[in-house]
Amino acid sequence: MGYNYGKLVKGMRYLPLSEITEEMYLARPIFSGDGKVLLSNGVKLTKSYLERLKGLGYEHLYVYMEGEKVTTFSAPVSDQTIRDALQGVKDSFLKAAQQRQLNLKQVNEVVNYILDEILTNPTVLYNLMDLKNHDNYYYLHSVNVSIISALIGKKLGLARDKIKELTTGALLHDIGMVCIDPLIISQPRRLSDEEMAAVREHTNFGFQLLRSARNLSVLVAHIAYQHHERMDGSGYPKGITGKDIHLYGKIVAVADSYETMTTGRVYRKALWSHEAIRQLKESAPEKYDPDVVEAMASSVASYPVGSVVSLNTHEEAVVVDVNAKKITIQFSSGPRVNALLDLEPDSEIKIEERLS
Ligand SMILES: [Fe+2]
Repeated sequence: MGYNYGKLVKGMRYLPLSEITEEMYLARPIFSGDGKVLLSNGVKLTKSYLERLKGLGYEHLYVYMEGEKVTTFSAPVSDQTIRDALQGVKDSFLKAAQQRQLNLKQVNEVVNYILDEILTNPTVLYNLMDLKNHDNYYYLHSVNVSIISALIGKKLGLARDKIKELTTGALLHDIGMVCIDPLIISQPRRLSDEEMAAVREHTNFGFQLLRSARNLSVLVAHIAYQHHERMDGSGYPKGITGKDIHLYGKIVAVADSYETMTTGRVYRKALWSHEAIRQLKESAPEKYDPDVVEAMASSVASYPVGSVVSLNTHEEAVVVDVNAKKITIQFSSGPRVNALLDLEPDSEIKIEERLS
């Protein structure tokens, strides 16, 4: 809204479905819950595709216009790793649902891929918004939470084997959901108190499932157990306070909350990344560990790639890349239209508002 698509702007934008027209192309692939490509990038968004995506629950897509070139950007992990991780999570959830042993070799491999990519890149940020839908929701949520948790662990200076434990637990933190009535989980509305109480049990179920898994650290099980506990004791299942919550539990609580807040539900609008960061900061130290929130805030992009923003120069721009050192924008209005510019923390040009 308020954004003029008549101008030729290069690069990909993250736009609400209501603003996407048939002359736009998909800029990021869409994955199914098991990591298959449902729709590849470069596909022209016809009316029927748009209808189908709406039916799957999409509210935003990454798009570009005809004739534009989508520049590459520094994602925290590759698309292939996301696909492998989705497969690993889905397989674990299915095995757990069938009360079979988890394939920890696969999980282990996926976590190693994630760490290899994240730990070797000194300036990487979590800079993508989700492309979740009804079918892949819990799987992609789990993968995103594991990536954000790994970044927080790295920021806090944890050793690789600790980050590995943390990332494994983050990937499986919601595995107890397989024990919850799917009719409750799929309700497109706010849940009743009784239904909420049933859903809260996923922390206990997750703990049981992971504690009994062979070759898995008990701390991994504790992440599933504690990720809804809050510093002031207002969380669940035990209502324990900060001093009794393990650091991994505190980290996954923040990563999970950030990821959930930036995802829309039928009954709740998604927050922009900078809004979610602000809210989490406001909820520390009551709900969240302030050091963990700080580490999260410097691990995720306030304005992820594809954000349409207004600047203090009254120009508009699209964020085309972002890392821990700078935000690369491309002007989409004014005399510098299409020009690229790196914004560093001390730059005079500042982002004032996110428009889309
Ligand atoms: Fe959860």
